[in-house]
Amino acid sequence: MQSVISISGVSKTYASGFKALEDINLEIRRGEIFALLGPNGAGKTTLISIICGIVNRTAGTVLVDGHDIGRDYRTTRSLIGLVPQELTADMWETVFNACAYSRGLFGKSANPGYIEKVLRDLSLWDKRDAKSRQLSGGMKRRLLIAKALAHEPRILFLDEPTAGVDVELRHDLWEMVRRLRDDGVTIILTTHYIEEAEQMADRIGIINGGKIILVEDKAELMRKLGRKQLVLELRETLSELPSQLDRYKLERSEDGKRLTYIYDTKAERPGIASLLRDLDAAGIGFRDLDTEQSSLEDIFVGLLREKQ
Ligand SMILES: Nc1ncnc2c1ncn2[C@@H]1O[C@H](COP(=O)(O)OP(=O)(O)O)[C@@H](O)[C@H]1O
Ligand SMILES: [Mg+2]
Repeated sequence: MQSVISISGVSKTYASGFKALEDINLEIRRGEIFALLGPNGAGKTTLISIICGIVNRTAGTVLVDGHDIGRDYRTTRSLIGLVPQELTADMWETVFNACAYSRGLFGKSANPGYIEKVLRDLSLWDKRDAKSRQLSGGMKRRLLIAKALAHEPRILFLDEPTAGVDVELRHDLWEMVRRLRDDGVTIILTTHYIEEAEQMADRIGIINGGKIILVEDKAELMRKLGRKQLVLELRETLSELPSQLDRYKLERSEDGKRLTYIYDTKAERPGIASLLRDLDAAGIGFRDLDTEQSSLEDIFVGLLREKQ
C-alpha cells in the first residue's frame, strides 16, 4: 500500500541536550487510522510536531505526499490538519469565525457551507456564534477539531484527543474519526490509552523512550503476541493430573477444582478440541469452561517490560 507519510532517520535533541527521538523510521499508509501508542514522555508530541513543522528535527527526512517538509513547508502543511494536545483557543473569536479564519490561513477560498457541515458534524452548530472562551472544555476540544478540519486536510493528526474528556465525547470523537477515515482521510492519533488504540486503530506503533519499538497491524499484533487461556471448572476434585495430559502443561488449582490451559494463538500447543477429547478419555468431567484472551494492555505492558 502507498505511503502518505515517510519518516526516515528522524532524531530530535532538544536545546537542553535531551534526546527525545532516536532514528525514527515509519511509513503511514494512505487512508489508515494509525495509533501511536506510548507512555507520557515517550516522544509522541515531539514526533507529530516535527511532521507538522512546528518543531525542527535534528536529523532525518519527512515526506508528506512526496513533498519534503523542510523544502515544501507550505504545501505539506496545507495537507495536514492538527488537533494539538493542549487546549488553545482564540478567546474572543466566535466559533464560526475561528473556523473560517483557520481555513483562510491555508489560502483556501471561503466556503461557509463546508464550515457549517464541519460544525454540524461536531455538534457545534448551535454554538456557532458563541465566543470560544464561553465554551466548556469538551466544546473547546470539538472546536479545535473543527478548526483543524476547516481547510479540508487529507491527513489529520490528533494528539491525545481524548485525554481528560468524558465518555460521551470520547465516543463521539471515535465515531467522527471513523467517518473521516471512510471519507478517505488518513488519521494519525497519539494516545496513552490502550483501549483507544484497540478500538480505533488499523495499525499500531508503539513508542517508548524516543524509539519505535514495534509497528504492526492491530489484528496481527493481538494474534502474534496474544495469549489465550481456557479455565475448566471440574465436576470432581482432582488430586493429581494423569500423565497422559502432560503435554498440555495444565495448571491445577490448589483446591483441585479448576484446571487452566494456556495456549498461545500461534498454536504451538495443541488446540482446545484435542484437550477436551483427552480429558474425556481420562474420565475428567467439567461443569463449566471459560476462555480469556489477553488484551492489548497485557501485550503492551509485556513489551515495555521486555525492552527495559
Ligand atoms: N521543548 C523541550 N525541551 C526539552 N525537552 C523537551 C521539550 N519538549 C519535550 N521535551 C521532553 O521530550 C520528551 C518527550 O516529550 P513529548 O514528545 O511531549 O512526549 P509525549 O507526547 O509522548 O508525552 C519528554 O521527556 C519531554 O520532557
Ligand atoms: Mg504528548
